[in-house]
Amino acid sequence: MAARKPLIAGNWKMFGRSADLGEIAALAETIGPASGVVDVLICPTATYIAAAAEQVRGKTILIGAQDCSAIADDSARTGEISAAMLADAGARCIIVGHSERRTLHGETSDLVRRKAEAALAAGVTPIICVGETQAEREAGRVAEIVGLQVRESVPEQGANIVVAYEPVWAIGGTRTPTLPEIAEVHTLIRRVLAERFGDQANAIRILYGGSVGPKNAAEIFSVEGVDGALVGRASLKAADFAAIILAH
Ligand code: G3P
Repeated sequence: MAARKPLIAGNWKMFGRSADLGEIAALAETIGPASGVVDVLICPTATYIAAAAEQVRGKTILIGAQDCSAIADDSARTGEISAAMLADAGARCIIVGHSERRTLHGETSDLVRRKAEAALAAGVTPIICVGETQAEREAGRVAEIVGLQVRESVPEQGANIVVAYEPVWAIGGTRTPTLPEIAEVHTLIRRVLAERFGDQANAIRILYGGSVGPKNAAEIFSVEGVDGALVGRASLKAADFAAIILAH
């Protein structure tokens, strides 16, 4: 099996404010050398990316974005932010297709794929999110839904991507899938990626996201095929996020 460097990414969503940027410096201090063993990424809201990138100058923590425009070229798109602009600000990765954007902003897998393509064109790694709802899981449709999302959201070209499996029903609460359930979906995702990319799929990191915290991180990281985590609430406080990183 290919050695994949784990990635532990924090998605601050629309929470962290400028006063919270100090958490990044505190995080760097707390994790110390562990930051060389895993890739650590923090995705604040777009307006704070440049300031966050300044905080991590000379440190091994990466800064990313939570979304980007699907339009790659500079053009008349009021309110949009291109992947290239996010890269200029210091973003090294861009989350695309988070379930909050799919559900609350009506984003389709086709749009998600175009955003991922725009990120790749800007030299930035897209973190492509997929995951089923509770109703879809109860209906026994996990493989169908997640498989389709991967096939439709992942660009045809370029395996320089990260995929995040985030069951919608596990986000923002306390419930997570069982470890075998996580393993099953990660295996499925890698199989679908292999259909597209062949052996290159072995290099793609697949993260788990949804109620990851200091208490359950170690057991989730022990699951075969889990290459790290996409963390929401627990990434906002340096102490909690550091505990997750150090659990790897
Ligand atoms: O993208 C991270 C995410 O949606 C999970 O959020 O708060 O359940 O860790 P949370």
